[in-house]
Amino acid sequence: MSDEVVRGPEDPQRRDFLEQATCALAGAGVAAASWPFISSMNPATNVVAAASTEVDVSTIQPGMSETVAWQGKPVFIVHRTEEQIAQMAQSEGVKDPQPDEERVLQPEWLVVVGICTHLGCVPGRNDEGWLCPCHGSVYDNSGRILRGPAPRNLEVPPYEFIAEEKIIIKKA
Ligand code: FES
Repeated sequence: MSDEVVRGPEDPQRRDFLEQATCALAGAGVAAASWPFISSMNPATNVVAAASTEVDVSTIQPGMSETVAWQGKPVFIVHRTEEQIAQMAQSEGVKDPQPDEERVLQPEWLVVVGICTHLGCVPGRNDEGWLCPCHGSVYDNSGRILRGPAPRNLEVPPYEFIAEEKIIIKKA
């Protein structure tokens, strides 16, 4: 059972993305999940340029995550537990070493672009963090690549807290 919730603005294009992402996250099969995310969206250039996403994170309980749409891409927001934060403090065994504290603004909140750095599939949550269904890359709860063909960590988008429990993911 996935601990992930998907939500986003109510326009048809984003609804298409959410339906596809939900399909992938529900484990509907490698074929359904293996489409390259970016090519499936093709948002209009002016839409991409203007897009920023405001997210109320107050409903995301510790240990849970949500996926939101930002500039036509999925963004994973994870409310990390104390245990997950402690585990992420060490970066041994990651392929693309980066301290966890450089990847978060607040230890409880991880915000990463949900596009595998191998060939662009959308990873799904698993016990370690995320598993990409396309070729098996595994990311930890800091979005750092642990193993598999992906060369880099999941990207951290530009974002900031605009209230205690509200973030804005800004124009890239
Ligand atoms: S696209 Fe994710 S492992 Fe290949």
